[in-house]
Amino acid sequence: MDNVRNSVGLDINSRVKIQYETYPYPDYSLFIPLRTQEAYASNSLFSAQLLKERGRAAPVFTRVDAPILIAGSGDILPFVLSFWEPITHPIFAIDISERNLQRARMRSFLRPHAFHWRAGNLEDPLFKMPENIGHIDSYGVLHHLANPKHALKRLHDLMLPGATMRVMVYNSGARTWIRHIQRSFALLGLSPFDRKDLDSALKILIHLMRTNPMFAERLTPMKASILHHSARFVDTFFHAREARLPVNYWLEAFASADLECMGLFDRYAELDDLKNPLLIFPKLKDLESRVADRRFENNFEVFLTKKAPPATSPQALVPLRYPTRWLLRMPPKAWFTFSETNAISMPMRFRLWRSFVKTLGGTSVILDGHAAKLPPATWQRLARLGAVFPSNFTTVAMKDLLIAPIHKTMDQPSFPKAIDLQQDAELRSMLNGLMISKAKSKRALEQVYRRLNAAQNP
Ligand SMILES: C[S@@+](CC[C@H](N)C(=O)[O-])C[C@H]1O[C@@H](n2cnc3c(N)ncnc32)[C@H](O)[C@@H]1O
Repeated sequence: MDNVRNSVGLDINSRVKIQYETYPYPDYSLFIPLRTQEAYASNSLFSAQLLKERGRAAPVFTRVDAPILIAGSGDILPFVLSFWEPITHPIFAIDISERNLQRARMRSFLRPHAFHWRAGNLEDPLFKMPENIGHIDSYGVLHHLANPKHALKRLHDLMLPGATMRVMVYNSGARTWIRHIQRSFALLGLSPFDRKDLDSALKILIHLMRTNPMFAERLTPMKASILHHSARFVDTFFHAREARLPVNYWLEAFASADLECMGLFDRYAELDDLKNPLLIFPKLKDLESRVADRRFENNFEVFLTKKAPPATSPQALVPLRYPTRWLLRMPPKAWFTFSETNAISMPMRFRLWRSFVKTLGGTSVILDGHAAKLPPATWQRLARLGAVFPSNFTTVAMKDLLIAPIHKTMDQPSFPKAIDLQQDAELRSMLNGLMISKAKSKRALEQVYRRLNAAQNP
């Protein structure tokens, strides 16, 4: 309770810090085995490959000691990325939460890299950050800042020319329903720092999930990963700062920081009617229209590079050493969960994995001899996931195929009909009880209903 009282009136960063000191993120057990191969696209080498596909060399290959910065590291990414980042590159983990860093540090105790752990605020101009950075990872962080545009500019200034960046920011349009729930909980006076309040919030959501088709559709996939995990529950429904910024804000912010958009990771295959977004960044109007009618609900996972003058002479590439013997491990599950890829045979899965690992390590791998072994749409899906690249083929036909749209159009999603929640007696008794215990007005209760009813509309 003290935490919440203290947070009133504090600036945005301080409130965010209190949240993450109380609830480290993502807060997996320190001893849980992690499938680090699923982070195949989260590292500097993957971004460097996207740049290579554009005919340019990334500093991670030309500057052997260029730092890798994890900006807003949370408690897991330094460990996970240390399986991928070349061993000579120091890893800087920066986070506003000391608790997150402590956990990340404990987890990474036996990893071979030179780690630098820095607790501090990315937005504080007095906070010293590394310079001449080769690659930055900032996943799910910028929308929690007071001024993301300024922060991006600052990060840009710390990067080497041609350095790369992976950013994930929220797709605010797809989170309107979450916003309504967040506001409802605030109107009810529920605090993320009070266990009883969190239980009440969870009870309301579980009830809505059981009785209302729209909430069932939205909340059921969150059941194990978010609803029954305090840190992630608070992160989703009680965040101290979630800036609502549309896609045009982000594209302008990248452009004004002089960062070039290389690719967009279409994790849920929602952009199959566009050219491969990982290789050809979609136009703003194409993204906006798909966000507006809910064809695109994924967050924006963007690969960027700092603009650089063309190299006058060929850059000497440094041979890289992976910290992990990937070839002895299973390929990422994420590649084979799609209708186009789930029938790929086991030997072919390993062949693709071997080709991917070698390609990222800087070795040229040509897959022409395998082109006919898989249907065209399978190659297209693999290319959209970043499992294969145009440079893995020499024929124009295959290079073109990997870029072409998979479908002509994508259907607009349909949603269950909204139900008037005022008619729900059980919900009414829950909300009334809370309003009485929190001494809230009748007007506040009406606003809660308005919000919860609105949350049903896409
Ligand atoms: C949603 S978590 C994401 C963590 C990590 N990137 C991941 O994907 O697992 C957001 C992280 O950003 C950190 N953060 C938020 N504001 C920050 C700031 N101003 N400076 C540094 N870190 C910040 C939080 O402490 C938290 O660890």
